[in-house]
Amino acid sequence: MIPQNNPLANYLTHKPAIDAAISRVLTRGHYVLGDETITFEQQFADYTNTEYAVSVGSGTEALHLALRGCGVGPGDEVITVSHTAVATIAAIEMCGAAPVVVDIDSVSYTIDPQYVEGAITERTKALVPVHLYGQPSDLKPLVECARRHHFFLIEDCAQSHGALYHGRKVGVWGDAGAFSFYPTKNLGCLGDGGAVVTNSSDLYDKLLALRQYGWDQERISRVAGYNSRLDELQAAVLQVKLQHLDENNRKRRSVARTYGQLLDSLNIILPAEIPGSAPVYHQYVIRCEDRSTRDNLRKFMLQRGIQSAIHYPVPVHLQPAYINRLGSYCSFPVTEKICETIISLPMFPELTQEDLDKITTVIRQFFQQTG
Ligand SMILES: Cc1ncc(COP(=O)(O)O)c(C=O)c1O
Repeated sequence: MIPQNNPLANYLTHKPAIDAAISRVLTRGHYVLGDETITFEQQFADYTNTEYAVSVGSGTEALHLALRGCGVGPGDEVITVSHTAVATIAAIEMCGAAPVVVDIDSVSYTIDPQYVEGAITERTKALVPVHLYGQPSDLKPLVECARRHHFFLIEDCAQSHGALYHGRKVGVWGDAGAFSFYPTKNLGCLGDGGAVVTNSSDLYDKLLALRQYGWDQERISRVAGYNSRLDELQAAVLQVKLQHLDENNRKRRSVARTYGQLLDSLNIILPAEIPGSAPVYHQYVIRCEDRSTRDNLRKFMLQRGIQSAIHYPVPVHLQPAYINRLGSYCSFPVTEKICETIISLPMFPELTQEDLDKITTVIRQFFQQTG
C-alpha cells in the first residue's frame, strides 16, 4: 500500500541522529523548557528570518496564543477562511472571539483578498490567512489592508514551513506566524508541537508568559496564562529535522513536478504555481469535475493499493459544531464547490519514482476506463 503520508519513513531516514538526540535528552534529565528548547527556538527564528520564536504545545496553541498575545478576546472578530483545518477556527474561538469567514480563491485555494474589505467591522481585531497545502496566501494586499484598518495579521503557517512569497518566507509578513509540528507536517516532531514567530519583542514577552501560567521571571502570574509548552524531546528531534527541511521541501517540489508531468492532459485540475510564490506542497491536491468522479477515483486507487485523503471533506462553517454560528449568515460557493471535488494524492519526501509511476498510471487507467 502506498500511504498518503508517511512520518515513519521520515523518522527512519534520520533514525541515527534522532535516536541520538532522544538519548541525549533522556540522560540529561531536564525534560521541559531547557537547553534543547532554547536552541531549537533560536534555530527556528533564524530559519524563518524572524527575531523570536516561542515554542508551544501545538499548532492550535500557536494560533491561540498569538491571537491572545495581540489582545484578541471576547467581543472581537477575526477574519479567516472556512477551507482550513478546524484548528484555525477553534483557536479563534478559544480566545472568546468570533470567527468571520470569507471565501477562497479558486486557483490558490487560499483567502481571496477581494472579500476581506467587505468583512471588516469596527470589531475586527485580526486577520488570519491560511497558507493551505503549503501555498502562500496573496499576502501583499492582506498586509496593506491590515495596516490601513489597524488590525493584526497572523499567518497560519501550519502547512507551509519554508514556503516563499515574493522571495520572503511566510510567517514574517504580519505580526506573527503560527506553525504546527504535528508529525505529518513539512517540519514534524514525534508528537504534538508548535511555535509562534514574531519580530515584536512585546509580543515575544507576552507569549513567553502566556505559554506558562502567565508567569514573569519571578514566577508570579501577571496575566492569566496556560500550560502550552514544547517538551525537550520534541525540541531535540526538531533540531535534527530542521536541518533537512529545505532538502525535504525540494523533494516535495520535485514530486509535485513529476505529478504535473505524468498527470498532464487528464480531466483534472492540477495545483497552480502562482507567480511570485514558491509553495512547499504539504499536500498535492487535484480536482475532479464532480463529487462522484472524485469518490470513484479514490475507490479505484484504494483497490489498487494507493491511499488518498480529502483536506477537507466539509468546510468548517458547515460542520455540526460550527454551523449555527458560522454557516447561518452566508454561503461560500468556491469553498463549498472545492471541498466536493478535491483529492490529496500521496505526498511525502520519500516517495520514489516507482511509487509515482504506479500512482499516475492508476489515475490514467481510471480516466481511460471512464472515458
Ligand atoms: C492549517 C492548519 N492550522 C492549524 C493546525 C493545527 O495544528 P495542530 O494539529 O498542531 O494543533 C493545522 C494542523 O492540522 C493545520 O493544518
